[in-house]
Amino acid sequence: MKTHLGFKLLAIFLAGFSSIFTFGESQTNPIDASVMLALKRSLNQPEDLGWSDPEPCNWMHVVCSEDKRVTRIQIGHQNLQGTIPLNLSNLTELERLELQWNNISGPLPSLNGLSSLQVLMLSNNQFSSIPIDFFTGMSSLQSVEIDNNPFSAWQIPESLRNASTLQNFSANSANLSGKIPEFLGPDEFPGLINLHLAFNNLEGELPSSFSGSQIESLWVNGQKSDAKLSGRIDVIQNMTFLKEVWLHSNAFLGPLPDFSGLKGLESLSLRDNSFTGPVPMSLVNLGSLRVVNLTNNLLQGPMPKFSNLVAVDMTKDTNSLCLPEPGDCDPSVNLLLSIAKSMDYPTKFAENWKGNDPCADWFGITCNGVNITIVNFQKMGLTGMISPKFGSIKSLQRLVLADNNLTGTIPEELTTLPALTELDVSNNQLYGKVPAFKNNCHSFCMYKSKQKRFSRVQSPNAMVIHPRHSGSHNESVKITVAGSSVNVGAVSETRTIPSSENSDIQMVEAGNMVISIQVLKSVTNNFSEENILGQGRLWDGLQR
Ligand SMILES: *[C@@H]1O[C@H](CO)[C@@H](O)[C@H](O)[C@H]1NC(C)=O
Ligand SMILES: *[C@@H]1O[C@H](CO)[C@@H](O)[C@H](O)[C@H]1NC(C)=O
Ligand SMILES: *[C@@H]1O[C@H](CO)[C@@H](O)[C@H](O)[C@H]1NC(C)=O
Ligand SMILES: *[C@@H]1O[C@H](CO)[C@@H](O)[C@H](O)[C@H]1NC(C)=O
Ligand SMILES: *[C@@H]1O[C@H](CO)[C@@H](O)[C@H](O)[C@H]1NC(C)=O
Ligand SMILES: *[C@@H]1O[C@H](CO)[C@@H](O)[C@H](O)[C@H]1NC(C)=O
Ligand SMILES: *[C@@H]1O[C@H](CO)[C@@H](O)[C@H](O)[C@H]1NC(C)=O
Ligand SMILES: *[C@@H]1O[C@H](CO)[C@@H](O)[C@H](O)[C@H]1NC(C)=O
Ligand SMILES: *[C@@H]1O[C@H](CO)[C@@H](O)[C@H](O)[C@H]1NC(C)=O
Ligand SMILES: *[C@@H]1O[C@H](CO)[C@@H](O)[C@H](O)[C@H]1NC(C)=O
Ligand SMILES: *[C@@H]1O[C@H](CO)[C@@H](O)[C@H](O)[C@H]1NC(C)=O
Ligand SMILES: *[C@@H]1O[C@H](CO)[C@@H](O)[C@H](O)[C@H]1NC(C)=O
Repeated sequence: MKTHLGFKLLAIFLAGFSSIFTFGESQTNPIDASVMLALKRSLNQPEDLGWSDPEPCNWMHVVCSEDKRVTRIQIGHQNLQGTIPLNLSNLTELERLELQWNNISGPLPSLNGLSSLQVLMLSNNQFSSIPIDFFTGMSSLQSVEIDNNPFSAWQIPESLRNASTLQNFSANSANLSGKIPEFLGPDEFPGLINLHLAFNNLEGELPSSFSGSQIESLWVNGQKSDAKLSGRIDVIQNMTFLKEVWLHSNAFLGPLPDFSGLKGLESLSLRDNSFTGPVPMSLVNLGSLRVVNLTNNLLQGPMPKFSNLVAVDMTKDTNSLCLPEPGDCDPSVNLLLSIAKSMDYPTKFAENWKGNDPCADWFGITCNGVNITIVNFQKMGLTGMISPKFGSIKSLQRLVLADNNLTGTIPEELTTLPALTELDVSNNQLYGKVPAFKNNCHSFCMYKSKQKRFSRVQSPNAMVIHPRHSGSHNESVKITVAGSSVNVGAVSETRTIPSSENSDIQMVEAGNMVISIQVLKSVTNNFSEENILGQGRLWDGLQR
């Protein structure tokens, strides 16, 4: 009985306690309340906001959870001024912070540790800086909008890596500098859909890590830094979810990539860059495309003809197209463009090769009437490969590709050129064999018969087959391959013979090695014809 009464009393006591406790819960969490009151003060006690109740959980535009923690502050477009209190990060249950379109100023406080925060809308204010640890621990973050704030210069911080759940990141006109971080790629940010970084001071290239990303909307247009965003945009071809790509007003260059994988691409703005090469058919044929901006680049080849569904921004004469209307280019233009293709459509050519007639004073091209006789691309910073299509310029007499960074081999097709008298590919990064030119024996055999001296060319990684005097008649092809590692792999180091530069010893240089002509002679049966360079056995001989 006593025990029973004791239980009853205990039950009544507990009920009373719990009602007191519940009453306590109907109050805003005291920490959150103190931060909210601080926010109200720092926003200059805005009267229109409906923030007069002593309980912040009862305020307009504020939402609390059942346990009276502040989860939402939604005061966008309220004509607010003032600043944000430093301890906003004490609102640890905050899910949405919406302050957009006000005139709030001062530094943004760190929101370090707001692990429930999902949506952050701070655009169109007067915030003066953003701390480097701003995003630390924001492991629930889905959407960030911080556009149009006069931030002091900042870079996308490492702390953003904590927000790998991000879907939207929008920081247009936010004074961002530095590079677009590689970490924004799909490995760390698999859900990123909208990345808007227009009108900042970004530089560098589109990160190669973007390959395979799910990004649908990419705005990086209008970078104001001197360098702007630059480089090629090949990675775009692997961003197959893209619907909207705005790259305009930057310093991107090189050929346009293959667009055939971008089945949903609707809007592509590439204007005001330095893109070269033709507009790819993979873009022209894209069924989803509705808007394309190509004005003011260095695009080459024919004027593209898009479907009627596409709004095309391609002002005449603001590119390097062969004709102002759709239609085929002259075959000689197509030929030179196919040659430029293997060198990734160099900017230098795209700037100069205008119109439909390569003989009209095109850079590097000399003609006799309508026939191209000389191609001189010496020292133009070229990369890529020597196109086999050179073999189609039947009237070609001299081909000078010296002092570039070309790689690959010397194409066999060059041996078919009937009028070729000189091929100079010295000082490149070529490898492989020098092909057997039809009349090559004339020049090479000439060394044998006349004992011409081989001059030594000072250049690392060099192999020189370089006559001091070419033939006295022009039937032979003078071939210069100095400075390339043609066949260098086949040369054995044991044959190295040191020599001073002015030595009269007849020399062939290979890699860091110099081989005397006597050694060459001995391993090639006195340069017998079976061992002509390009037929292989010379180098087998050297290896023996
Ligand atoms: C937040 O800072 C304000 C002063 O700006 C202070 O009154 C308030 O007590 C602080 N709240 C917490 C939880 O630190
Ligand atoms: C408020 O946040 C700061 C920084 O995170 C922390 O040091 C402090 O302990 C917090 N104050 C309260 C009352 O939780
Ligand atoms: C915004 O605030 C700044 C001071 O921070 C003030 O000079 C400016 O007039 C305000 N603009 C508007 C539209 O309220
Ligand atoms: C992301 O941005 C899109 C487009 O602005 C918007 O519709 C969507 O609601 C945003 N996502 C989140 C989580 O806010
Ligand atoms: C933006 O950053 C640049 C440096 O990149 C700085 O000179 C400029 O003052 C910054 N703008 C503002 C509004 O702070
Ligand atoms: C946040 O990033 C830091 C390193 O930048 C890391 O140490 C920490 O574990 C991350 N936290 C979360 C919640 O991802
Ligand atoms: C595109 O993706 C393929 C397959 O993953 C990869 O091999 C290639 O390097 C990527 N190209 C670019 C330009 O990112
Ligand atoms: C792109 O072209 C469309 C259609 O002509 C035009 O409406 C739009 O303003 C252009 N965009 C830019 C950035 O020029
Ligand atoms: C141009 O080449 C063609 C065919 O190779 C030849 O018939 C013609 O005479 C050449 N013209 C000139 C001006 O060399
Ligand atoms: C050739 O490429 C190398 C590195 O690949 C670079 O260091 C060098 O400057 C380049 N030379 C020219 C002439 O472009
Ligand atoms: C032989 O070639 C040289 C240089 O390539 C040239 O100057 C000369 O005119 C040519 N001679 C003849 C007979 O074609
Ligand atoms: C190479 O020529 C020299 C004379 O110039 C001769 O003595 C030698 O036997 C020849 N060697 C071969 C392998 O033909």
